[in-house]
Amino acid sequence: MKLVLLGPPGAGKGTQADLLATGLSVPKISTGDLFRAHVSTGTPLGLLAKSHLDAGTLVPDEVTVGMVAARLAEPDTQSGFILDGFPRTLTQARLLDETLAHDGRRLDAVLEFHVDTAEVTQRMSGRRTCRACAAVWHLVHRPPTRGRCGTCGGELYQRADDEPATIAHRLQVYATQTAPLADHYRTCGLLAQIDAAGTVEQVSQRALAALMPAL
Ligand code: AP5
Ligand code: ZN
Repeated sequence: MKLVLLGPPGAGKGTQADLLATGLSVPKISTGDLFRAHVSTGTPLGLLAKSHLDAGTLVPDEVTVGMVAARLAEPDTQSGFILDGFPRTLTQARLLDETLAHDGRRLDAVLEFHVDTAEVTQRMSGRRTCRACAAVWHLVHRPPTRGRCGTCGGELYQRADDEPATIAHRLQVYATQTAPLADHYRTCGLLAQIDAAGTVEQVSQRALAALMPAL
């Protein structure tokens, strides 16, 4: 299964991508996670990406596509993958299609998660991420264990871009630069829209039901 997850910041793409990756036995490829790993280890790519992540703006297409293309060349992606947070512009979408076509591959489906602004803001405000393993928690909906990561016991932090002014900017960037991708994938016959309100389990069931025809 070669899958793209679309949806505004905080919609739950990463959470659902983890569940789908386990259920479908394919790797999750999160551009946000990849950029954050580069930032935390101080690579040249991380130094370039950091100002964009902090400001809630998009990292330039050529940088992002190069990073994803390198990941998609790795053997574990040949049987499938779940792209979380990529593509985010029409240029990225076109270059993704070209990269896959070069290897005789194509996407099987695109899931677009819908949640209202109040809910995504609340989800991002309560999010805490593990510094050691990048697992994602929520103070109310997925509480950490005694203030630490429930998976590895690592220290948790609040993402700098989950501060209110940056959340508002990221939502605006999504509306102007990424939301138009839904039309592109609808035209390709790949788009399924998912109601992403409700519990993690409810959303997961809707996502799996939408994927049934492609499985
Ligand atoms: P990225 O990390 O991709 O951020 P995002 O798209 O803004 O998405 P989020 O990670 O904020 O949210 P999510 O939808 O994954 O939600 P999650 O599952 O965590 O990108 C960060 C930055 O990197 C960008 O701003 C940009 O600078 C750069 N970047 C990344 N990709 C790029 C690209 N392609 N091109 C250029 N630049 C790029 O859930 C959120 C919270 O809610 C969690 O606490 C979770 O536990 C909780 N939760 C999840 N589901 C539910 C539920 N159903 N009910 C209640 N709580 C829930
Ligand atoms: Zn952890």
